[in-house]
Amino acid sequence: MSKTAILELDGKKYEFPVFVGTENEVAIDINKLRDVSGAITLDPGYKNSGACKSEITFLDGEEGILRYRGYAIEDLAEKANFLEVTYLLIFGELPKKSDLERFETDIRKYTLVNEEMKNIIDGFPKTAHPMGVLAALTSALTAFNPKSVNPENEKDLYEAICKTIGKFLVIATWTYRKSMGYPLNYYDNTKGYVDNFMNLMFSLPTGPYKIDPVVVNALDKLFILHADHEQNCSTSTVRMVGSSHAGLFASISAGVSALWGPLHGGANQAVLEMLDEINKSGGDVEKFILKAKDKNDPFRLMGFGHRVYKNFDPRAKIIKKAADEVLTALGVEDPLLDIAMKLEQAALNDEYFKARSLYPNVDFYSGIIYRALGIPTDMFTVMFAIGRLPGWIAQWKEMRLNKEPIGRPRQVYTGSPLRDFVDMDKR
Ligand code: CMC
Repeated sequence: MSKTAILELDGKKYEFPVFVGTENEVAIDINKLRDVSGAITLDPGYKNSGACKSEITFLDGEEGILRYRGYAIEDLAEKANFLEVTYLLIFGELPKKSDLERFETDIRKYTLVNEEMKNIIDGFPKTAHPMGVLAALTSALTAFNPKSVNPENEKDLYEAICKTIGKFLVIATWTYRKSMGYPLNYYDNTKGYVDNFMNLMFSLPTGPYKIDPVVVNALDKLFILHADHEQNCSTSTVRMVGSSHAGLFASISAGVSALWGPLHGGANQAVLEMLDEINKSGGDVEKFILKAKDKNDPFRLMGFGHRVYKNFDPRAKIIKKAADEVLTALGVEDPLLDIAMKLEQAALNDEYFKARSLYPNVDFYSGIIYRALGIPTDMFTVMFAIGRLPGWIAQWKEMRLNKEPIGRPRQVYTGSPLRDFVDMDKR
């Protein structure tokens, strides 16, 4: 591989260094492009732009590979638990047993959320979407934890990380409790992190609540599969907001908002709504395939396609198998699972989807598992956010420790040239 790339513009040649990543990903370093040539690149949606160098996650969309810190997603989903993967993503290595115990103990120091946060929740209507409430509450945590984090100070940074992990789970579940009109629960420091999720969500003061280990296992796996995905929309948002040296809670809150959209994390809710609609309209998957192919119809097959995966999404493979196992273990029969499988088959055999390399993504089957676990549809994207939190934190930390410059893209202006001001009576 050549070490430089040559660009010719207006008869002049410019040479740029070429950077090659660990897995032979080739990038032309155009850092000096504008300085030397006066030109910029134009790449809407950043389809060809590397925003940073990162040691966290490797993804090969052509081969369907996903690794966190070098470990295959298949191994992590099978052999690790969510907090172990959280530690791996944020600190770079799999924790020893003692490291993991210490990490969990330290997170527990911060699981109490300021009681005044309840006043903020009370200001929302019950019908508010949980993602909107979660973004607001995450941002509000800044007000209750105003100390700014110095990422250079290891102790400060570690405390901020544990605090974010401890409090985010609690407020995420509060969004559901509020919508149900239930009393808000507290984290139980005698239980594990994922067990706590179930307890915070579903235990009621009126009686005991038993946590099903099948459910905890399934959730552990789902959270791991969502934990990081390199420079996706919400993660890039977290890095971008953090690049102005805004705090961790503020950056994460922006990530929650970015994740909410139906083209990103919001797709898991949209998939379930789509499957439900197909079911209610008689189960005719072909009709929906035709709609998805019709360029005059804005409908897209939700849970299909991916910016980076052009082969298959390795997470979707694991989730499909898990959906089968979880439904069997819980004895749930869901007609939406049959519809999802029919829809997948119909799309995979259709020329339109084949030609565009559109395969099921992580969101296609996850909603079916969430539904079997009793999680309401509008909480699905919150589930994604809980899973993605370690990735956001790891990427924020990396960006700050690498002293990355403030994110500030350029543009090509296409508006009107200079015009004379027109007085009000002449317009
Ligand atoms: N249904 C129908 N057609 C599709 C779909 C779909 N789900 N996805 C892409 N296409 C078509 C699109 O119309 C375009 O066709 P043409 O070349 O004829 O104009 C072509 O495939 C390429 O699509 P694109 O929009 O240029 O691709 P992109 O990389 O910009 O978008 C995507 C990726 C994920 C936004 C898109 O595939 C999509 O909207 N999928 C449905 C939403 C979804 O499931 N999102 C979750 C993504 S995975 C989890 C996450 O990131 O949070």
